[in-house]
Amino acid sequence: MKLKLIVMASLLLSLSACMSTSSPLGPDASAWDNYLSWYKVTADATTGDPTGFLGSVHDGSSAFRQIYVNSIGEGVNRGTQGFPYPAGTILLKESFNNAQALADHRNPDLTIMVKLATGQSPATGDWEYIMGANGGRRGTGDSGLAEFCRDCHLYAAATDYNFINSRFFENNR
Ligand code: HEC
Repeated sequence: MKLKLIVMASLLLSLSACMSTSSPLGPDASAWDNYLSWYKVTADATTGDPTGFLGSVHDGSSAFRQIYVNSIGEGVNRGTQGFPYPAGTILLKESFNNAQALADHRNPDLTIMVKLATGQSPATGDWEYIMGANGGRRGTGDSGLAEFCRDCHLYAAATDYNFINSRFFENNR
């Protein structure tokens, strides 16, 4: 079972490695340099598959994940403002392979979503999907990377493609 997960995870990883990307529309990596000072959406790291949509992406269900949102999107995530997120919102997720890596805060994989201005990438709900702390791999429009991320985040379309927010926590108390 574990082997199967590892095989699937590495398959997905290599699939995403050869997916087409697009040129940046959102800010460069300095925009999330200080993400550790942002509002932490997940009070405790999540593991397993709390939404039922994770499958083997984001390092799989045995990984530990922590999510942060910058001040522009904090009100929407916490439920004091309505969806959709304002342009300039950044949602960032750290994935750690195991509990020890989480405890040591060692080498998290970062996946990032940046909300663009209305109309910049209608195919992705105006989100730019980004892989890696340096922001090197980005997807908007009909690029392969954008479609890969969007096709799953679409399950959270009612909350602007964002899975984990106050509404999720209310429904899963
Ligand atoms: C097969 C489904 C799936 C795919 C594909 C996917 N994600 Fe996610 N993503 C999730 C789920 C489920 C969560 C909720 C958090 C959790 O369970 O850890 C999530 C959470 C996130 C978050 C935190 C914000 C939120 O929605 O809660 C970011 C940022 C993110 N993903 C970025 C990406 C990027 C970038 C890609 C493409 C490289 C991607 N995701 C591809 C399922 C997916």
